[in-house]
Amino acid sequence: MTTTSSHLPPTVAAHVPTGVLVGGAWRPAHGGRTFEVADPATTEVLFDVADGDEQDALDALTAADEAFEPWRTVAPRVRSDLLRAVFDTLTRRTEDVAALVTAEGGKPLAESRAEVAYAAEYVRWYSEQAVRVDGLARRAPAGTHHQLVLRRPVGPALLVAPWNFPIAMIARKLAPALAAGCTAVVKPAQLTPLTTAFVAEIVREELAARDLPTGVVNVVPTSSARSVSGPLLADARLRKLSFTGSTEVGATLLKASADRILRTSMELGGNAPFLVFDDADLDAAVEGAVQAKMRNAGQTCVAANRFLVQEGVAEEFTQRLARAFRTLVVGHGAEPGTTVGPLIEESAVERVQQVVAEAVDGGARVHVGGERPARRGWFYAPTVVDRVSPEARLVSEEIFGPVAPVVTFGTEDEAVGLANGTPFGLVAYAYTRDVGRVMRLAESLETGMLGVNRGMVSDASAPFGGVKASGLGREGGEAGIEEYLETLYVAL
Ligand code: SIN
Repeated sequence: MTTTSSHLPPTVAAHVPTGVLVGGAWRPAHGGRTFEVADPATTEVLFDVADGDEQDALDALTAADEAFEPWRTVAPRVRSDLLRAVFDTLTRRTEDVAALVTAEGGKPLAESRAEVAYAAEYVRWYSEQAVRVDGLARRAPAGTHHQLVLRRPVGPALLVAPWNFPIAMIARKLAPALAAGCTAVVKPAQLTPLTTAFVAEIVREELAARDLPTGVVNVVPTSSARSVSGPLLADARLRKLSFTGSTEVGATLLKASADRILRTSMELGGNAPFLVFDDADLDAAVEGAVQAKMRNAGQTCVAANRFLVQEGVAEEFTQRLARAFRTLVVGHGAEPGTTVGPLIEESAVERVQQVVAEAVDGGARVHVGGERPARRGWFYAPTVVDRVSPEARLVSEEIFGPVAPVVTFGTEDEAVGLANGTPFGLVAYAYTRDVGRVMRLAESLETGMLGVNRGMVSDASAPFGGVKASGLGREGGEAGIEEYLETLYVAL
């Protein structure tokens, strides 16, 4: 279980738990098996991690269930203070956590630091919300009785995190869950379980230091997601599922949750349109486009997936975007100067190669990139293509890679039609100076979030989530804690 990576500081490597966390203790997986976690920039194996199975999952749920009663009944201020201490530690240890995020996920260190700060903000926000869960008391309109509306934690929750933000996505589930009084079984992504384990250890230490039940947070890494989620979803002690990942897997989990009418939150795939109108500030649009496209090398569900550009500025915008992409530096995320890291695995690179090749066969023109750089690791070059057919898979499917396809439009109505012409509705971006148009877009775009003259919407204090096939529920902001609360009405 030792790392071979020269990029991961030995002081960090020495403190990464690689087991299953059950009831406050790290231990090997029940079956004794492990799986490998690799650095996507070098393909080197970093760690062997415990490969949890059904028994580990059920042990973790037993621990979460036993911890639920004591945890839900502690004073909200105790939960708030715990989260605040975790925020402080994460902030203090930013460099260590960021090094791990880069080692297993590949993103440049500057982006990993930003992810740690983003994650910590969720923890701080929910440390503040933990003491603000309110209810209602009023006289019934008929005057016959009083109505009390109380909020209670849902219960033990299964939190399933994706690989693209190994700390931020778990923070925005775990922090509101703990703030509400829920306990958790965390299933990290198979490709990036190390950061989750490191952060879970920080939470475990803070719980233990306060003599709080350490079974509040349990972690089951696995190479077989179904062997963990299947038995948990079927177990009556589990009361909540929160999942971030693909729409396909989300639909499968929803079906599996249906028999028990389990509370679910689903943050699923996207196909974000990035609209540039003739009246846009093109400098700002290009800057926002690079940000919206290239964060984590395009591997985010809020990545701009289709650049819909009005005819009058399309050529100019495309040329400028290609110039900006030429300045990006592809490399290992820990190397100084790197601005674009690798994709997460070989199959991801192969898929991007394929959808670009199909678009080119269909008449698309490559301005920059369009190839795999000649270096070890799972890299793909930052790429701009235009003359893309709206039917091409490059724009009809989520790319999850550093490729910016440009499609042109004539009128605002046409732009809205193209933008909405997808089963997804997570986020849209629009660049325009016309406030009236902004309001029309806010009315007509089928989306859960809209960035106006901004290439980034994510913010711990705002409701993150989508409509249509992009999901159910919201994470972050005031809404995020609601996902972990039930409502009890008392007629008095
Ligand atoms: C995601 O890609 O799933 C989340 C990105 C974000 O929170 O900004």
